[in-house]
Amino acid sequence: MGLVTLEYVLRKARLGKYAVGGFNFFTLENLQGIAEGAARQNSPVIAMASTGAMKLFGEKTTAAIARTVAEEYGVQMVLHLDHCTDMEILKRCVDNGFTSVMIDASSKEYQENVDITAEAVDYASRYGCSVEAELGHVGGKEDDISVDERTAMFTKPEEALKFVKDTGIDALAVAVGTVHGFYKSEPKLDFPRISAIHELIPEMPLVLHGGTGVPEPDFIESIRRGVCKINIGTELKSIGVYETSRLAYLEDNGQDPRKVSKKVVKACADIVAHKLEVFGSVGKA
Ligand code: 13P
Repeated sequence: MGLVTLEYVLRKARLGKYAVGGFNFFTLENLQGIAEGAARQNSPVIAMASTGAMKLFGEKTTAAIARTVAEEYGVQMVLHLDHCTDMEILKRCVDNGFTSVMIDASSKEYQENVDITAEAVDYASRYGCSVEAELGHVGGKEDDISVDERTAMFTKPEEALKFVKDTGIDALAVAVGTVHGFYKSEPKLDFPRISAIHELIPEMPLVLHGGTGVPEPDFIESIRRGVCKINIGTELKSIGVYETSRLAYLEDNGQDPRKVSKKVVKACADIVAHKLEVFGSVGKA
């Protein structure tokens, strides 16, 4: 197996009524953990690199490593660029073999979001690369805004229908109550809104961002209502990579970095394997 497109794994997920996990990676061990978790569960998986990671590693290196890791672990993996606001980086990722990209123009006005997204679709689709885009705005811990202001940014179902027709995307990220990063209080997902969007565009896979800290029953309910991709970043970064490295370093007294690496791979794999079970994608590769 090796790299496959987002469109491929999400079409099967939509028909099979499960979700595929999208996991951010920042280091090689982090990526190996994602592959190991998917291999353990015989599940498709989406490895997501950020625009920041592109600036650190470059598109060529990232694509070559991800392709090799997918082959080495024998997993069906999508290599996805997460939240890209820079068209030049997006195009370089497509050129270098990413099988999916997310163009994020969600902070722009509707028509500008459409124009930017359509340009990304036009470029990516000629090379068979899938495109995810966002309508409404998910936001993150850096956004210091009130609940009312957040709700105003939720995805509007009628607008989602128009956006999908206007752009030709393969997956739609929706703003329905989740945020990026750790939650300060229990997240409140707007389930009726997920259903309303899904009813208008039943063939469009919906993407739930900000998966860290969302209770498991909420994942299951979201999937039941049309979500096909769920993103997890902060949990892997903070616990899988950072906290595990810190403890492993202290335990080993800084003697053997390979011990730290092994523990990080395992910790990330455990997180991923568990999430894949909750998302219902076990055995679907
Ligand atoms: P978290 O970091 O909150 O898990 O969100 C990840 C995400 O949505 C990446 O796009």
